[in-house]
Amino acid sequence: MEIGVGLLGTRFMGKAHSHAYRSMTTFMGLKVKPRLVAIYGRDPEYTRYVKEAYGYEKYYLDWRELLKDPEVEVVDNSLPNFLHKKPCIEALEMGKSVICEKPLARSLDEALEMLKAAVKAGVTHGVIFNKRWFPAVQLAKKLIEEGALGKILHFRFAYHQDWGADPELSLTWRFKRETAGYGVLGDQGSHVIDMIRFLIGDIDEVIALSSIDVAERKLEDKMEKVDVEDSVAVLMKLRNRAFGVMEASRYSLGRKNYFVFEIYGEEGSLYFNMERLNELWFYKRESEGFTRIFVTEKTHPFYEKFWPAGHTIGWVESFILQLYHFLLAVKKGEEFRPNFYDGAVVNAVMDAVYESIKERKWVKVKKTVV
Ligand SMILES: NC(=O)c1ccc[n+]([C@@H]2O[C@H](COP(=O)([O-])OP(=O)(O)OC[C@H]3O[C@@H](n4cnc5c(N)ncnc54)[C@H](O)[C@@H]3O)[C@@H](O)[C@H]2O)c1
Repeated sequence: MEIGVGLLGTRFMGKAHSHAYRSMTTFMGLKVKPRLVAIYGRDPEYTRYVKEAYGYEKYYLDWRELLKDPEVEVVDNSLPNFLHKKPCIEALEMGKSVICEKPLARSLDEALEMLKAAVKAGVTHGVIFNKRWFPAVQLAKKLIEEGALGKILHFRFAYHQDWGADPELSLTWRFKRETAGYGVLGDQGSHVIDMIRFLIGDIDEVIALSSIDVAERKLEDKMEKVDVEDSVAVLMKLRNRAFGVMEASRYSLGRKNYFVFEIYGEEGSLYFNMERLNELWFYKRESEGFTRIFVTEKTHPFYEKFWPAGHTIGWVESFILQLYHFLLAVKKGEEFRPNFYDGAVVNAVMDAVYESIKERKWVKVKKTVV
């Protein structure tokens, strides 16, 4: 069955999502087949080029025109954060299914408006938290659910990159609260928060610190103030009483895409590093050191869809897996997770982090209810 996809966004995520749609049936089979109906971009020449290069039938220079296209059944929003709310809500009001990039919104209030519209529309909705779909992360979840770690006591999650350490980098939408909502907390930290929830449980209370490491950046000919953080550290308590720390920075020299977690339970521990994403390290009480599990056997979650054992997959395959499962849910008219509710919960945590930084105290995460 074919599903007509309309993609908003042509650059980093536009490319990753288009690649995923194009190679989806190669790996996942024919249960659901994306039809690349249209792509929206604001730069005419580049949008015309990506229409051809990414393989879309049409292109639009106005996102509302793409939404109105009757052949577009699913709207994929890969635009910057300040362009999540309006296109998503308008698409939902037209009865289209919507998948939106993370973070869902620039604040919990904005996320709740989006969640309300999604619930009212009664269609399938999702948020891209693609890291959930790494086979090693799926295996970690399975081990935790089977009780291999026993009760989880504490954890450390970190996501470090260093592109923000370049002072010559101009002031893009990522460096302003108005356009991004948050700094590194929304950019990298939203993945971390979602992963903590996915693997361990809901976050109840936080206390945090942050810093802006490059105060001004060039915007055209003049220097403009950066008003969102480059680095953040959060101490957190979960509802299930586990506690831990998360860090995120885009000014960690030498770290390119260093997303790591360590989870410690009464019976065992897990360690994962996204720069080696085909591996999960597992320690069981009384074993002699950690065991490196190379998650490329066909018995490992989702791995059978790809290559023979040992051939490894990369970051881009997580988009194939997430978008495939989303389209399958659309086809069946089912709920998909992570959805706008999960996205809004991440916003609730991030808003609590901001309040904690401002007030210099522990802050309870608000309940996500609409
Ligand atoms: N899941 C992930 O791993 C991941 C990674 C990177 C980014 N993201 C998310 O994806 C979204 C897009 O990020 P990106 O890195 O692709 O951004 P980008 O800056 O590379 O591209 C954004 C797209 O939006 C367009 N755009 C920018 N400003 C616009 C405006 N004023 N009006 C209309 N269009 C405009 C750009 O032309 C481009 O097509 C963000 O929400 C981001 O948080 C997710």
